[in-house]
Amino acid sequence: MFEPVWWEADGEPAVGYLDQRALPQEVVRARACTIDAVVAAIATLAVRGAPAIGVFGAYGTALARTLALDDAAFDASLARIRAARPTAVNLAWAVDRVREAGGSLAAARAIHDEQRAVDRAIAQHGAELLPSRGAVLTHCNTGPLATAGYGTALGVIVEAHAGGKRLHVYVDETRPLLQGARLTTVELAQAGVPSTLIVDAAAAATMQRKDVRAVIVGADRIACNGDTANKIGTFGLALAAAGLGIPFYVAAPRSTIDFARRDGSTIALEEREPDEVRNAGGGLTAPAAVDVFNPAFDVTPGRLVTGIVTEYGVARPPYEDSLPDLATRPGLAMLTPAAR
Ligand code: MRU
Repeated sequence: MFEPVWWEADGEPAVGYLDQRALPQEVVRARACTIDAVVAAIATLAVRGAPAIGVFGAYGTALARTLALDDAAFDASLARIRAARPTAVNLAWAVDRVREAGGSLAAARAIHDEQRAVDRAIAQHGAELLPSRGAVLTHCNTGPLATAGYGTALGVIVEAHAGGKRLHVYVDETRPLLQGARLTTVELAQAGVPSTLIVDAAAAATMQRKDVRAVIVGADRIACNGDTANKIGTFGLALAAAGLGIPFYVAAPRSTIDFARRDGSTIALEEREPDEVRNAGGGLTAPAAVDVFNPAFDVTPGRLVTGIVTEYGVARPPYEDSLPDLATRPGLAMLTPAAR
């Protein structure tokens, strides 16, 4: 498995990362020694996936502490890291948590360790939801590359497979940046889970014709009513799943729930450069001057979500009741095995 993010043990203080833009052709590892480099790695999706940018932001905060001459400079750096991508709540959450701990590296490492434990718990709870055999469909990339742990939605699939469920995974390629095609197929192959790649536009037809029994995706931000911001295309999948009577699950850590947000109507949805669409795959695929709308995320209404898998178990509708309850639960690391 590829490690997406780490603290560089040797040399000048730096956060190491795998440049996910180069996958699957090349394995490129890089070091961010400045706040500019941390911000650029997040903004360009060299490091991506909500929990992974949280872990990276946590190490970036520890790096900022070592670089900043005073508290004002430290806070200015953190504001830049927090703003590098607007939709994933994990980034701001992790930066704030390490800041509260004085920018300590130990606090950043704790967030990383917790992510691994949280992912394992999500995988175990979610695996029970999947059928014992048959097809499931997923979108974007939610495996170890996206979380710096075991993965969320993909972790659920891998865990179910490891537990003996005979699953076949249909993977949306996830235009325009192809996280499904470039990353999810690689992670599934590494885990030995059979998969088939489809273009995004084939998702509804695949659900209908290939006996898909569940759709499972990750999330970048979940409001208290279950409204879920995730990679563009997720909303369409949820509509198709509802139309076909297929359960639609979201898997995400508690740190992805925005407890301050009643619903998803005010979530900031990142819009990205037109050239990501006009230059799909590196060459011009549309007139260079054509107008482009390129939202990176959409919001799936909570009413279309069958269940939300967190480290605490599976939350069910009405989410207004089941999700806010999680805010006050003890952190996973503090739970005894019996209480888990
Ligand atoms: O733009 P990306 O690649 O960062 O988008 C990632 C997603 O939308 C994932 O589904 C989400 O962050 C959950 S990752 C476990």
